[in-house]
Amino acid sequence: MKFFVVLLALAFAAPALGRTMNRCSLAREMASLGVPRDQLARWTCLAQHESSYRTHVVGPTNSNGSNDYGLFQINNYYWCQPANGRFSHNECKLSCNALLTDNITNSVRCAQKVQKAQGWAAWSTWKFCSGSLPSINECF
Ligand SMILES: *[C@@H]1O[C@H](CO)[C@@H](O)[C@H](O)[C@H]1NC(C)=O
Ligand SMILES: *[C@@H]1O[C@H](CO)[C@@H](O)[C@H](O)[C@H]1NC(C)=O
Repeated sequence: MKFFVVLLALAFAAPALGRTMNRCSLAREMASLGVPRDQLARWTCLAQHESSYRTHVVGPTNSNGSNDYGLFQINNYYWCQPANGRFSHNECKLSCNALLTDNITNSVRCAQKVQKAQGWAAWSTWKFCSGSLPSINECF
């Protein structure tokens, strides 16, 4: 019985662990979503510094009460709708939870929208990724 309870707990806990990618798996999936090859060193660097390539991370609450979601730590005041109904501009027209899934499509599309609107400097970690970066070609 105890064993069963432990198994059951694991079964429920497992999905919450989400998916941890790496530089190359992310680069390849983003390429297959049509993200230009010459941007992939930048995007993967951002994902490394924002989320350590983890799809399911919700960042600690910011000083203004907002939170950041997923691989690219997208902010829930401008870009996605938080589940608690707090006001959001929701520019990506997505629930924030849709930015935490194993399927990275929504996260990637929303991050591209942020980048188009505000440029790379939208990410505070951009300072780690703006210089010259190792080539991504080894991933392909
Ligand atoms: C709240 O803080 C976050 C993180 O510093 C920032 O990205 C976001 O723009 C801020 N939102 C508002 C409404 O000031
Ligand atoms: C991933 O999500 C996108 C956007 O919601 C959807 O179009 C696509 O079919 C999904 N892919 C898989 C493999 O489920």
